[in-house]
This record gives sequence, structure tokens and C-alpha cells, in this order.
Amino acid sequence: QVGSHHDGMHYFPMDDDPNGHGLLCINHEYVDPDVLHAAGPTLVDGQRPTDEVRKEIAAHGISVVELRKTNGSWGVVPGRYNRRITAGTPMELRGPVRGSALVKTRYSPDGTRARGTINNCAHGYTPWGTYLTCEENWAAYFSNDLQPSRIDARFMTNNVDIAVPREQARYGVRTTSSRYRWETAASGEDQYLRFDVSLKGAAATDDYRNEANGHGWVVEIDPFDPASVPVKRTTLGRFAHEGCVFAPPQPGQPLAFYMGDDAQNEYIYKFVTRARYHQGMRGDALDEGVLYVARFNDDGSGEWLALDINDLAFQAAAAAAGVEFRDQADVLVNTRLAADVVGATKMDRPEWGAAHPQTREIYMTLTNNSSRTVDTIDAANPRGPNPYGHIIRWREQGNRAFATRFEWDIFVLAGPQGDSQVLPGEGGPALTEDNIFASPDGVWIDQFGIAWIQTDMSECQQDTGPYGENGMLAANPITGEIRRFLSGPLNQETTGVVSTPDGKNLFVNFQHPGDRSRAGNFTSNWPDSGTVYRHPGDPLPPVSPTGPRPRSATVVITREDGGVVGLS
Ligand code: FEO
Ligand code: CA
Ligand code: CA
Repeated sequence: QVGSHHDGMHYFPMDDDPNGHGLLCINHEYVDPDVLHAAGPTLVDGQRPTDEVRKEIAAHGISVVELRKTNGSWGVVPGRYNRRITAGTPMELRGPVRGSALVKTRYSPDGTRARGTINNCAHGYTPWGTYLTCEENWAAYFSNDLQPSRIDARFMTNNVDIAVPREQARYGVRTTSSRYRWETAASGEDQYLRFDVSLKGAAATDDYRNEANGHGWVVEIDPFDPASVPVKRTTLGRFAHEGCVFAPPQPGQPLAFYMGDDAQNEYIYKFVTRARYHQGMRGDALDEGVLYVARFNDDGSGEWLALDINDLAFQAAAAAAGVEFRDQADVLVNTRLAADVVGATKMDRPEWGAAHPQTREIYMTLTNNSSRTVDTIDAANPRGPNPYGHIIRWREQGNRAFATRFEWDIFVLAGPQGDSQVLPGEGGPALTEDNIFASPDGVWIDQFGIAWIQTDMSECQQDTGPYGENGMLAANPITGEIRRFLSGPLNQETTGVVSTPDGKNLFVNFQHPGDRSRAGNFTSNWPDSGTVYRHPGDPLPPVSPTGPRPRSATVVITREDGGVVGLS
């Protein structure tokens, strides 16, 4: 057993046998307490039992798992690389936010450290062989019980009814109890109390008012150094991070990383390093550079707008909007607000991005948006509401990753046969019963140029829709051909895909099978028993409510003829 709720994932090959020996890094996005605890979660006199909280914190984070293929079968090597990084692991803050007054806490009075990583959804990796894990829906883990705030009124949200600071309000930090109520752990230890981010003491170093500001970042982990301290790279901005994917490096040019903020009407970002790409590049390169946010114009052009307090256009936009930022740390902690100020394009929930290894185009899934209306549609988000999602792509001007202008088009509008289209700008075909899908989320373009698209449909789309269970499609980004590759087990999200360098072993995660389970009433028994696939049109499979607990799991797919998975 590793953590729970497997999500983004990368395979790092080992030199001795790259296609049969490597480190798999797996994100563990969240936990379902009804399945994680044998009898479900409990609350005693308003407090969570400490051992339950400990287990939930330990099931979050990242696993580094050493794998070896022996006689055609993959297994875990009990080696020194195996490691769990959890919601309680000490981490370092780097970049402009390090040392800022906004991240000083009782745990880190000098604002250089943070504890744990939470809600690690999609991921990335770097050209220098480290793993990037991205913090998505971290805001819900904190509670601000609305004690009178003593924070400077200029830096509050405009909504006077919400008396929490803007760096919490703009991200949805709750004013009621948190998602798992970790702050109520019966032992009352500091490591749990920190999830209560209300004002308690006289100064920030007396309490955890700033604890949530240590979350919402991209975290860099060196899987080959089990003793390394994970680093939160604050220069890449603070939001509900999905993935973090780089465009193919060009020697002598800066590196660019692309990121989505997965919430309704949030933005797409790009980070460009100040350093130019070279063989000796390391993680410090992520501490210096410029964060941009995207504006998609209706004519198919686009612009990257700098979120940089030293940029004159940014200063002018902030002044015009009447928004003050103290310094670049303040800009980064409030990345969403900075993006509002410059007039970025509000998107239909940006999820994963993928870079095409040959064309250098970037693809990004926009999973759906129930709040888009006919009055707020634009060319890049053309359906209101948008229950099915779409995939957008762009090409940087001059094919340069550091360009500030780009051209974009829509790769596919997902949905049923009657409301879908491949390459709509080129008058492409609707999807058919062989490739309809909705709510694209994971996307990865492999070394052969195959785009793997994974779905995260809601319960109603899976049960009553025409799509079957969440699954995975394979697309040719150049021709627009899309085919269904697999359908997963009951009530899961298919998320996380990577292969060995030879493309012959494809690792795929099924997250939260039976996600409507209650303790003792499980709606799936996968993987210990139960039907694996439910293709479109198949009936719901039988489930034993008191049978094995469903568990998130990683599967590996190989071809019977030993060939490259996905190539015909
Ligand atoms: Fe965790 Fe945006 O999916
Ligand atoms: Ca996702
Ligand atoms: Ca999703």
C-alpha cells in the first residue's frame, strides 16, 4: 500500500535497465475517509481522533516507488529509493516568497519553510530529472473561523461580508470547518492546529494565520535523493495547480513551463526561466524568471501578460484596477488577483497540459464549466454552459518558448455525437460512438506523438450518459484521429499515464473506484474483485456492498506481442 487517490505520475528510468527498472513517482490527491478507515471516519465531541487524522495526512502526498520487471512482471524493489512524502513532510520555500511576511508562522518564524503538500493533482518533471508535484484544491483543507481580522484593510477582499484576507478569500478558504477537520485532532498538537488559519495570537509568528499561504505551489522533488528536502518553487505562482509541463528545450533559449488553474473561470499560465537552457541546469532555475498569464483573443491570436511587479504594463494595470501589491511575493501569493488585474481570459477549468515533441504545440484540457453562460462565451470557450469540455492548443510565435504572443485553436470539442467536433476550425467531424468522451482531464503526448486523453466525468455523466466509465483515448494530434483505448472500473477517474522509454509498458492510474462508497456499503470492489471495464452501453456490473474495499491503484498495460502500446 502506498498513499491514496493516485493521480499524476512520472517514470524515471534507471541506467542499468531503463525499460525494466525505474522510479515511479505517484501523486496522492486526497482521501475518502469512508474507505480509508475500516469503519469510516468519526468525530467525538467535535474532535477527530488523532490516529484517524494521522492516517489521512500520511495517505496524502507523493510516493516514490522503485520498480523492476522480472520475467515479464513488474514488482516493487525494497530498495533505498522508496519514499513517502506526505501532508506533514517538512519543505523549503524558494523564490520571491521565501522570507516574506506572508508566510511567517509559528512553525517558520523566518518564513522559509512549510509543512507538507496537499491535494497533489497533476504533475510535471524537469529536463534535469526531478519530479514536480502540483497543489490543487488545498484551500478546502483550511478553516478561518472569522475572528475579527487585524490585517491591513487595503489588502482585504472588496467583499465586506467576507472578513478573511484576500489571499484566502480569492482561493476559497472556508469560513466554516475544513474538509477533513484536521484542525480538530484530539491531541491538540501544533501540526494539526495549523489547519485553523484564523487569528489567535498577537503576531503572525504566534499562530497559523499564514499557514495556507505555504500551499498552492509547485513542489520540486529529487526522487534519486531520498534525503532531499522538497522545495516549493514560488516563482511559478499560487493557484489550484494542475500540471506543469515544459516545452521541448532548445539549447541557449529559456525554458517555458505551462500550467492550468483548475477552477471555473480561472486562467492558463506560463513560466519562463531567466536562465537559458543548458546541460547543467538545475532546480534553482525555477527561482528566477517571469510568470505570465494567457489572454486568448477571438481572432485566434493570444498574448502572454507578465505578472511582474517590475513590469510597467503590470504596474499600470494594477493602478487602473485600484489593486495594491507590496512586492513580488505579494503578487505571487495572490496570483489569481494579479491575473484578474491584467485582464487574462477566464477559461473552462484548465487541467493538464502536454507538449508535442515534434510540433512543439502545447495542448491543454478544459474539463467543463457549468457556470459559463451564453453571455460569457468567447471563441476560446465557445459553449455556455460547457458540460463536456474541450481541448485547446497553441503555437508560440516564431516557435520560441519565451514568445509573448501565440496562435491558438481548438483541437476537439468533447461531448456526445450531437454536440462534439474534432478540429472545429477546420470543419472536422463529430465524435462517434467509438470515441465520444466528456470532461477531458489528463493529457500526455508520448515519445511517439500519441496524445493520451483521460476523462474525469461526473457521476451523472458516467451513470446515465452514453460514455461508459471514465477511461482513456488515444489521439493523433496532427490528423485529429481519436480512438477509445480503455474504459475503467466503476465510478473512478482515470488519471495519470506514463510509459517506459521504449513505449512498451504503459502505467495508468484508476483513482477512487466506487467513489460513492460508505463504510460497509461499497459501490465497487475493484481491484480485489469486480468487473474491470464498463464500455459504453454495458450494464452496471454487480457489486458486493460488504465485499472488499475499493482502492485506487496503478495498472501496467503491455501488448501480447510485446510491441509499443498505442502504435499499430
Ligand atoms: Fe484534481 Fe483538476 O483535477
Ligand atoms: Ca485533474
Ligand atoms: Ca478533474
